[in-house]
Amino acid sequence: MVDAIHGDFEQKIANDITIEPRDTMPDDYRKTLIRQISQHAHSEIVGMLPEGNWVTRAPSLRRKAVLLAKIQDEGGHGLYLYSAAETLGVTRDELLDQLHSGKAKYSSIFNYPSLTWADMGAIGWLVDGAAIMNQVPLCRASYGPYARAMVRICKEESFHQRQGFEIMHVLAKGTEVQKKMAQDALNRWWWPALMMFGPHDSDSTNTEQSMKWRIKRISNDDLRRKFVDVTVEQTKVLGLTVPDKDLMWNAETGHYDFGAINWAEFWNVVKGNGPCNKQRLEARKAAWQKGEWVREAAMAHAEKRKARKEALVAA
Ligand code: 3HC
Repeated sequence: MVDAIHGDFEQKIANDITIEPRDTMPDDYRKTLIRQISQHAHSEIVGMLPEGNWVTRAPSLRRKAVLLAKIQDEGGHGLYLYSAAETLGVTRDELLDQLHSGKAKYSSIFNYPSLTWADMGAIGWLVDGAAIMNQVPLCRASYGPYARAMVRICKEESFHQRQGFEIMHVLAKGTEVQKKMAQDALNRWWWPALMMFGPHDSDSTNTEQSMKWRIKRISNDDLRRKFVDVTVEQTKVLGLTVPDKDLMWNAETGHYDFGAINWAEFWNVVKGNGPCNKQRLEARKAAWQKGEWVREAAMAHAEKRKARKEALVAA
């Protein structure tokens, strides 16, 4: 029996037809998309901070230029995703209020400090590597604006991951001190990167419905396992050691078995008690306040252009 109000919606989902902003959709579908897309956008914007910390200390002009380009990309990803969220009837100001008030989540990974230059490598390699793993399936999300934003974003993520791996490779093949710095960064970023994929499927509140609605195509645990399988091989190329004494190739399953994730740490960081949560939110709120004059000037300019256009039409 086709549901009278959302029949069209259910059929479109069943036939893998993209849902567009003007289509009818269940309120919960809209709500979970606003939740996920806005938190994704917040993650991109907050994610600029740990890397911004190293722009003035990049070891060469080339590294500085590459890092600047990556950070600018992340800002653009955030704006793209806020625009995708706005097509669902929420305003950017509402979304930013939710971030600044601490109500909205963003990826826990960005609440860890970037302590050395090797962290720029580990973030690009591991964090953007995990982001690619999670975002490529989102290019086929059922909601059109989100899926299309992901296509553009994933192209840029590949550059982010490669530049990070290159930094790690130079350090890991460098002096003993450089190799130690790379291993230290891997030790500190490995487990938080696995947490990026979210809780185990059995503890995930959203996965089942998100997969029914074809927002999420692959579950948290399957994506995490894919990431581990790929990244452990890359770690061998670097000649570094994955900080997991239980990591073991399982010939039966054809995947790596790995140790238990510290979910108490994960939820503690998600709840706002990570090493940098307060610092990150303060930085975002300060940037928002400092940028008020730019927003006002842009709005004044837009108003003037609109008035001039209307005067021309009236003349
Ligand atoms: N950090 C913070 N919160 C997290 C989290 C994490 N790593 N993983 C899960 N959560 C939250 C979820 O948001 C959810 O809370 P909510 O219902 O209040 O939103 C709760 O924990 C339970 O998790 P679920 O698995 O049920 O939630 P989802 O089905 O939404 O799955 C997700 C979580 C896999 C992160 C999914 O939201 C997703 O794919 N989001 C889009 C991708 C994304 O946001 N990636 C974050 C990093 S962006 C990035 O790295 C950019 C790169 O350029 C650097």
